[in-house]
Amino acid sequence: TNPIQIAIDGPAAAGKSTIAKIVAEQLGYTYIDTGAMYRAITLKALNEGINMASNEEAGELLLRTEIDLQPTEAGQLVFLDNEDVTEAIRTQHVTKAVSEMAAHSLVRERMVELQRQLAEGRGVVMDGRDIGTHVLPEAALKVYMSATVEERARRRYDDNKNRGIDTPLAELQAEIATRDKMDSERESSPLRQSDDAIFLDTTNLSIQEAADKIMQLAKERL
Ligand code: C5P
Repeated sequence: TNPIQIAIDGPAAAGKSTIAKIVAEQLGYTYIDTGAMYRAITLKALNEGINMASNEEAGELLLRTEIDLQPTEAGQLVFLDNEDVTEAIRTQHVTKAVSEMAAHSLVRERMVELQRQLAEGRGVVMDGRDIGTHVLPEAALKVYMSATVEERARRRYDDNKNRGIDTPLAELQAEIATRDKMDSERESSPLRQSDDAIFLDTTNLSIQEAADKIMQLAKERL
């Protein structure tokens, strides 16, 4: 059978990347984490001290930036101008700044172009905020994954703890809520559920249950 495109969207820390990775692996598809691309350009903007509020400055920065995603056995590696930034893009510093950068139309245009190139002619599981609505409108399967903000903050807290990072739960919940609000209210392809997407509430689902559900939906479309 021909490979299909699977779009997974939803608010921050809903489990999209964890589940997208499992599904991609089971189908032998490429996993593409689009949030990592917005995080990478944000890291560079912070390092260079550009005016984060300026669409023009952000657009100009992207013109002299190379962002590469490389799928490996251990997961996706992210390269910024040939430097491995896979870890560096996950700091709270970047997380807090990313939604402002991602709102710029010039940034989105360029990223979407790259994302479509990465998806062309192959089986992909792509996660983000605007994949079903904008990046891959023809995707055979679109899932909008969510969970309560309390549950999402708790999961992020546990993840962080396992990585030796100790950010207070209340701070994580506030950061997640702020980011969702900015991502939903921006003008340029905001976060929203595509009309043809299937809603999946993961609040009371395990990782395995959520992955199984998406696998079942995928198999119906193969
Ligand atoms: O998925 P992740 O939480 O890593 O995404 C980081 C940020 O990147 C989001 O909060 C959002 O501002 C932006 N983003 C986006 N469109 C996407 C993926 C991510 O605007 N497709």
